[in-house]
Amino acid sequence: MPFRKIYKYVASTFLHRANSFRIAGTVGLVFSVSSCINHSAQTATNKAVVEIDDNVAKRYNPAIFGGFIEQFGDQVYGGIYDPGSPLADENGFRKDVVAALKELKIKVVRWPGGCFASGYHWKDGVGKNRKPTPDPVWGVVESNQFGTDEFVKWCRLVGCEPYICTNAGNGTPQEMKEWVEYCNGMSGKYAEKRKENGNEKPYGIKYWSIGNENWGGHEIGASTPEKWGPLVKESADLMLSADSALILAAAATADKKWTLPLLQNAGDRLDLVAVHNYWLGFWQKNENPDYRSCIALSEEPQKFLNGIIHMLDSSGYRGKIRIAFDEWNLRGWHHPGYPRKEATSPLDTAALRLIQKREINNIPSQYTMADALFSASFLNACLRNPEYVEMTNIAPIINTRGPLYVYPEGIVKRTTFHTLSMYANLLQSHIADLTAISDSVCSVPVVDAIATSDSLGKNWSVALINRDPEHFTACTVKIGSRTPDGKFKATVLKGDSPDAYNDKEMPERVKPETVIYPVQKGVVMLPPHSLSIIEFPVKP
Ligand code: AHR
Repeated sequence: MPFRKIYKYVASTFLHRANSFRIAGTVGLVFSVSSCINHSAQTATNKAVVEIDDNVAKRYNPAIFGGFIEQFGDQVYGGIYDPGSPLADENGFRKDVVAALKELKIKVVRWPGGCFASGYHWKDGVGKNRKPTPDPVWGVVESNQFGTDEFVKWCRLVGCEPYICTNAGNGTPQEMKEWVEYCNGMSGKYAEKRKENGNEKPYGIKYWSIGNENWGGHEIGASTPEKWGPLVKESADLMLSADSALILAAAATADKKWTLPLLQNAGDRLDLVAVHNYWLGFWQKNENPDYRSCIALSEEPQKFLNGIIHMLDSSGYRGKIRIAFDEWNLRGWHHPGYPRKEATSPLDTAALRLIQKREINNIPSQYTMADALFSASFLNACLRNPEYVEMTNIAPIINTRGPLYVYPEGIVKRTTFHTLSMYANLLQSHIADLTAISDSVCSVPVVDAIATSDSLGKNWSVALINRDPEHFTACTVKIGSRTPDGKFKATVLKGDSPDAYNDKEMPERVKPETVIYPVQKGVVMLPPHSLSIIEFPVKP
């Protein structure tokens, strides 16, 4: 039976249409302009065809599986760091959190912000006599008990690279340089201070970014395109004078008016452009859109990324500057009335009421299969462009909207945690080109796919998302000229409902299951609202 013809476009006319998407250099045929149709009256199964090119596979950077933690709420204090907890080690690091992040094979973690960074002075957070300081951004008091040395020690425990975001808000380029020297210097005033603080050997922190979101009026140190490039160049030169081996990023956006002047002024100092996006902006007003509304956004990350890629290509920086998507999440964090640029009094009752509203981020029922499948589509978009994307950092990894919810007595692996775990543990090291044709649901392809293989092309792991909230999808998979036939091991994440979520009472309502998928002439039946990673060993 042919595809239910909702609307199908030839790739060429679709290149400039909303739903076109690039797969590792190949434009996939896609579809649809239909609004999201409620399938309940129909029993028809969706159809899709995924054709994998087994000739070319490119290694992707595992730092695509990275994270971000900010000195915000209970991401650090009460999240990764809780010295009074019986679940913490001698350094105050929650051992269960470290174990969970090891499961995710988190390769890089960005810290201390985020907007927080634009008001943070790193010297307040090192040494023996640390004093609490006002956090002008989030309206609380920063104890400074968790600072640079604790962050590096924690990263070593987790097994990830530290990535430091410097203060281009009320900080200075000199302060950035001194931070680099403190961390990486062999000698010098600040290297000596590190040694005095008990860390003789340089940390060798390679990832650093200049500024967070200086393009936004909400940020302390909000800049202009004319001023930002020169400031980045000055900061980069000072930081590189302290360590010439740094991998440097700077705050960028998809807006050419901001990023092209940055590249023109400082592009030769940069290795990365740092970009952020949250597709549901709940910063001031929290909402809880339904599964279909969230899934309808699944192709947005690819479109956002295509814009950045086009900018790098057209400005001549392809291959010279890569992308650090160093804050991403379906949902923006809820913090009504903030961020701010001036400290508020801890006695300001109106401010305290607003800060209390941040608890809304912790409502577990918000984080459903929509988050898990959207996150898989985000990662797919990045994995498909391995020559452009260096890293991504889910914002955050702990608490707030993160995949791991941490509370005093334990942890809850939210649905997206399992997506990240499946990707980090089950995908192979190389990404292959593929083309996908499929029916649609909620104005997006019902199937989103990526194909990975080992370096020899002998073992394949194919990730297939069925976005339909109610119906199976019959997906035909072809690997080169081969059409798999037989029973194949798969890991599937689907939950008992598109709205299923995990919480303290039912921490494993949604979890990956190892199954055997029967595949006949390449056709595999994908369950509704599911992510499947199917292993296709190539017969010798
Ligand atoms: O909502 C959290 C904030 O979102 C981060 O601190 C900032 O980088 C982004 O705007």
